[in-house]
Amino acid sequence: MILEARDLGWSVRGKAIVSHVDLAVRQGETLGLVGPNGSGKSTLMRLLAGIVRSTSGEVRINGQMLHAMPRRQAAQLIAFLEQQAETTEAISVRDAVELGRTPWLTPLQPWSAEDDRIVGQALDDTDMAGFENRSWATLSGGERQRVHLARALAQQPQVLLLDEPTNHLDIQHQLSILKLVADLPITSVVALHDLNQAFGCDRVGMMSVGRLVALGPPREVLTVERIAAVFGVRASIVVDPEDGTSIFRFHSA
Ligand SMILES: Nc1ncnc2c1ncn2[C@@H]1O[C@H](COP(=O)(O)OP(=O)(O)O)[C@@H](O)[C@H]1O
Ligand SMILES: [Mg+2]
Repeated sequence: MILEARDLGWSVRGKAIVSHVDLAVRQGETLGLVGPNGSGKSTLMRLLAGIVRSTSGEVRINGQMLHAMPRRQAAQLIAFLEQQAETTEAISVRDAVELGRTPWLTPLQPWSAEDDRIVGQALDDTDMAGFENRSWATLSGGERQRVHLARALAQQPQVLLLDEPTNHLDIQHQLSILKLVADLPITSVVALHDLNQAFGCDRVGMMSVGRLVALGPPREVLTVERIAAVFGVRASIVVDPEDGTSIFRFHSA
């Protein structure tokens, strides 16, 4: 297990936002995280990233306590794309992606041709190669999202944490980003807004009112009964005749 949470919780002013989450993320898997708005997905992601310190339980990466790890070492292991990611406006796309290399640079190991290659690859993988010299401020929401992902890829982490990475993306880029993440040999945890996208993950975790209420293969977790109980909507599963994959259709009331 590369990333583990044990009895993980976070409370603010006496209110539990995330509680009693036990989760073990396997080496190389893509784990989808779904749940209604406010169910605690982003908070759980921030706890797993070590951005927020848990108020109970712990997070371990490769068996080591995350909160006891130096920031720099944690940044070599975990990259996090936040749901509302921001960047200083005055920098170029290339500069923004180069920031991903920061945890790897030292006075003895300064910027090298290898760093250039890694940044170039990340720009290619996110279809942003043509934007290198553009100023961040001129990018659309979807382009910014792809730059953030490129920065996270350039970080070459062992674990990639992505909070709703397909937000703002057109359908072509949604699919290409999801395929890229699924094909990457690294371990990923991806909070997803679209339940149909979660069918493509190796496993799915479902959050409800701060709890992880289900965890397992997509077809075991994403049942119409659970969707009704957790999301309060009626769903039916439709099978695509082209490739036999499942998709949800949702019905109002
Ligand atoms: N710093 C905070 N102070 C108070 N409430 C918070 C804070 N952060 C998150 N919350 C609340 O916790 C709940 C879970 O939020 P979040 O983790 O963003 O859920 P999700 O990503 O699933 O939509 C929400 O009700 C949100 O308003
Ligand atoms: Mg969120």
